[in-house]
Amino acid sequence: MSIRGAWKERQAAAVRGRSRFHRLGVALVVAAASFPPAQADGRMDVDTRAVMTERQMTDVERLQMLHGFMPIPQFFPEGAPIPTGIPVTAGFVRGIARLGVPDLLETDASLGVTNPMQIRLGDTATALPSGQALAASFDPGLLYEGGVVIGSEAADKGFNVLLGGGVNLARDPRNGRNFEYLGEDPWLAGTLAGAAIAGTQSQHVLSTVKHFAVNDQETQRSTLDARMDESALRESDLLAFQIAIEKGAPGSVMCAYNWVNGHPACNSPALLNDVLKNDWRYPGFVMSDWGAVDTVYAINAGLDQESGEQLDTAVWFDAPLRKALTDGSVRHERVSDAVRRVLRSMYALGLDQPRQAAPVNYVAHAALARRAAVEGIVLLKNDAVLPLDSTLQSVLLVGGHADLGVLSGGGSSQVTPVGPAPTIIPVEVSGAMTYMGRQLYMPSSPLRALRAAMPETHFSYVSGYDVEMAAARAKRVDMVIVFATKWQVESLDVGSLSLPEGQDDLIRAIVQANPNTMVVLETGNPVSMPWLADVKSVVEAWYPGQEGGLAIADILTGAVSPSGRLPMSFPKDLAQLPRPTIVGFGSPHQTAVTVDYSEGAYVGYRWYAREGKTALFPFGYGLSYTRFSLDQLQIKKTVAQHQPLHLTAHFQLRNVGARAGDVIAQLYVVSAQTRGTRRLVGYLRMPLDVSETRTATIDIDPRLLATWSTAHHDWVIEGGHYQFELANSAIEPGATYDLMINTLHLAP
Ligand code: BGC
Repeated sequence: MSIRGAWKERQAAAVRGRSRFHRLGVALVVAAASFPPAQADGRMDVDTRAVMTERQMTDVERLQMLHGFMPIPQFFPEGAPIPTGIPVTAGFVRGIARLGVPDLLETDASLGVTNPMQIRLGDTATALPSGQALAASFDPGLLYEGGVVIGSEAADKGFNVLLGGGVNLARDPRNGRNFEYLGEDPWLAGTLAGAAIAGTQSQHVLSTVKHFAVNDQETQRSTLDARMDESALRESDLLAFQIAIEKGAPGSVMCAYNWVNGHPACNSPALLNDVLKNDWRYPGFVMSDWGAVDTVYAINAGLDQESGEQLDTAVWFDAPLRKALTDGSVRHERVSDAVRRVLRSMYALGLDQPRQAAPVNYVAHAALARRAAVEGIVLLKNDAVLPLDSTLQSVLLVGGHADLGVLSGGGSSQVTPVGPAPTIIPVEVSGAMTYMGRQLYMPSSPLRALRAAMPETHFSYVSGYDVEMAAARAKRVDMVIVFATKWQVESLDVGSLSLPEGQDDLIRAIVQANPNTMVVLETGNPVSMPWLADVKSVVEAWYPGQEGGLAIADILTGAVSPSGRLPMSFPKDLAQLPRPTIVGFGSPHQTAVTVDYSEGAYVGYRWYAREGKTALFPFGYGLSYTRFSLDQLQIKKTVAQHQPLHLTAHFQLRNVGARAGDVIAQLYVVSAQTRGTRRLVGYLRMPLDVSETRTATIDIDPRLLATWSTAHHDWVIEGGHYQFELANSAIEPGATYDLMINTLHLAP
């Protein structure tokens, strides 16, 4: 079966698995007292097995399963309690050997398997492009395959828990971690995260989804209280998680550093007990982010496992939990439930089964990394200079270390790529992530790749640090490509949208010297472009991963037509944002602040539409070397079992340009509920040859037509008139279809 086929199959299985669990919730209560003695019986369902194993444990064993530490010797000044053979990595939780319960060996894995500070000498892994690049592909199949790559490499290295699945919404284009996430729209981000998680877990390793919830800025991330009303929360950040969990069935949810509506996210009964475990019936376990627990009573709020315990103020789920059990402030049932949840996820994913080592094909993985980068590159502007003309005699590349490689984002997600040694430039970062102050350039040089792809053209390089010299060189060539970079790192937002280190001035000087200049951006976020009108073309390559140089060359030379679309809006300036200044920015580390997310569910393009603002580039935008027509939209209502409203969009896609390329169709709805503005309800990516026409369908999740009713505690679709629009971006006009829908309530 193809990987895409496997993904579809996996989706169906996830749905079947969920309904089994629902039935079992009832069965468990009845059966708990009368189970036969535990046995390692593969035919027994996972919930039953979890209960039976847990019942054989001592309290010491139970608690052992509920906390873990970072096996990094440098973090233990008084000597490390690290068992022999455990590699340096993000987390370790000791199992119970006598009951066949495996250790949990945890690695970060958002964009590839990480190697913290490269302490595991020589241990490399396939480095995929950044989350935004992956999201710009609008391609769940690609995210699934990326998940398979990461999951299989992790399994091969002996890890069984992957700390991936970042799905926090890009509410602020200055967030230092947006490059790990999947954009600003809950449906896009949720479906893509779900696909990535499913791909990872297909390799019999466990994936998280993180950081639950509203960890939408890094500034004061541990001391900020994110405020949002319940409806808005359900329709935006929580919806992204809900969809990712439904599609990916992750074994664990990682709760966030920040507070939400007055409670730390890892000690929030509203988030963990009420929404996640009750409303969504989530059967897996909640693990804390590293250093996010400050009380044993978080277990009563729904936290199941304390991670990275040496970063917390105490190892809360060890001695303090024992004491709390003795004095009755934490109930035994809660501890048993937490243990069962961990066991259930282990069993569901086969973590206790011996692994069949399948050899990892790093060459195939590199090819996938290249395809991912190609699919995610967004062509923002093109005044007829791209694809590069094969008759060009001389092209100068300026800046961005384009001779060496491509930039990547920093922090816990940093991957040490396969291939030659990367170039690392140390930089200062304050606070908890000081040790992550290293700009890593993946060794895939755009200069080398362009030379190989266009041997008849003379490509040269200059760093741009000497602006005058670069401008003088620019005068002597047919064309100039400036590589502009902006590094971002976990724990640190940036205060402005500008390119750093005088790069705006550099671009201006180069354009003055040679008007035939274009810009390639390697950034972890949108940037402002004061020179936009003066350059011939702009390509957003994000952090394109270990094959990034080749991917950039594929797009610039026209080997592949660009197809990526922006997963987040590019603002014109800070004044356009809901919060022109980042709350808490510039205040001392750990200052308590409140961020009022008053834009609520109107994130990104929905905010611009509601406020009547025009972004520099809208969500969903991206040019191509060919042209597509999207028409004949029809929305059909069908009656489906177990679904009160089943809507399917049918439409036609046609390549009306002169080259093959992939089209990305976006379906939006406009209704009274969306206050007359668009909301994404579906999307689809499809390859089309020249003149090829294909029909397509999209199933519409009815929750995307609804708002959350706090009064009824469910989703409500108000009766009325709905207009669907098939478009090329969040603002471009497109084919429309009108539909009347009656009032309807949908379960939480
Ligand atoms: C990050 C998590 C990461 C964990 C372990 C934390 O600082 O927020 O995303 O998984 O560290 O490295």
